[in-house]
Amino acid sequence: MVTPGTPDGAWPAEAGQAPSGPGSNTPTPADMSAPLLRLKGISKHFGPVQALTEIDLDIPTGQVTALVGDNGAGKTTLIKCIAGIWEPSGGQMLWNGKPVQLHSPRDAAALGIATVYQDLALCDNLDIVQNMMLGHEPLKYGLLDEISMELTAKQTLADLAVTTVRSVRQVVGSLSGGQRQSVAVAKAVMQEAKLVIMDEPTAALGVSQTELVLSLITRLAGRGHGVVVISHNLNDVFRVADRIAVVYLGRMVAAGPAADFDRQSIVDLMTTGTSARLGNGGGNEPASSPGFGSGFSSGLEG
Ligand SMILES: Nc1ncnc2c1ncn2[C@@H]1O[C@H](COP(=O)(O)OP(=O)(O)OP(=O)(O)O)[C@@H](O)[C@H]1O
Ligand SMILES: [Mg+2]
Repeated sequence: MVTPGTPDGAWPAEAGQAPSGPGSNTPTPADMSAPLLRLKGISKHFGPVQALTEIDLDIPTGQVTALVGDNGAGKTTLIKCIAGIWEPSGGQMLWNGKPVQLHSPRDAAALGIATVYQDLALCDNLDIVQNMMLGHEPLKYGLLDEISMELTAKQTLADLAVTTVRSVRQVVGSLSGGQRQSVAVAKAVMQEAKLVIMDEPTAALGVSQTELVLSLITRLAGRGHGVVVISHNLNDVFRVADRIAVVYLGRMVAAGPAADFDRQSIVDLMTTGTSARLGNGGGNEPASSPGFGSGFSSGLEG
């Protein structure tokens, strides 16, 4: 069950602990001007390993936020916190301005957060319709309503302009990598995801399949979904991202509009945690903006 966060913003130290204290069960009214998701001081440690340190990040609706960073920087750990797989060791998440705590992936799904992992979690032996409806099958007279399932699946794919799939009755095991990604995204959309998170969606894809997925990502944001994409491919990042967030050794070292970054500044930030280039007319947001973590300082003032 999704529980409201504690009023003082602290995440309970013990995983799974329900919020306590006066007022903790009174949800704050949603703030329509707030970003879809705001992370405030999110930390996560695994025993002695500090994977994330006080991450601040705003994820707006209707935009693509690219999350970049070197191997081991903490990207997957961060999205697993958003997806309800890990409970943060500290910090706070606000969904439409309202503090929330996610104790499980089911909690994240209930809010409208869908994660498309690289292995996609699709069933190869089922067809596209069966995969898209899995766990949400409509019944008619106690039987599966195959006609409405097929129509819904077809309509969702058509809405997303996924045109390369020849038949929705094709088994998923026979699809190309790009088509599989498209089905996984369409499934998330059909389940009314407000935020779609994708971990390396194009890593295993060829040129034309990558193109298919990148245009799908852009359309998702155009349809008003918030999208977070992890990618190591800076070409892909600059193709789709409205905003870029850079994680370095578990800290958010820069976050802002994509136009404020160039390839070199991202490489600098990913490898050293700072970039002198951002201070030279890069026009970045002030360091005090919610998009910047506490690690954003040296080298950025010019
Ligand atoms: N379950 C875990 N137990 C212990 N340490 C972990 C666990 N998961 C991640 N870590 C550590 O947390 C840090 C961040 O890992 P994470 O997987 O988030 O990195 P990443 O940015 O996704 O890297 P990559 O680009 O290689 O996928 C690493 O030092 C990693 O070893
Ligand atoms: Mg990862």
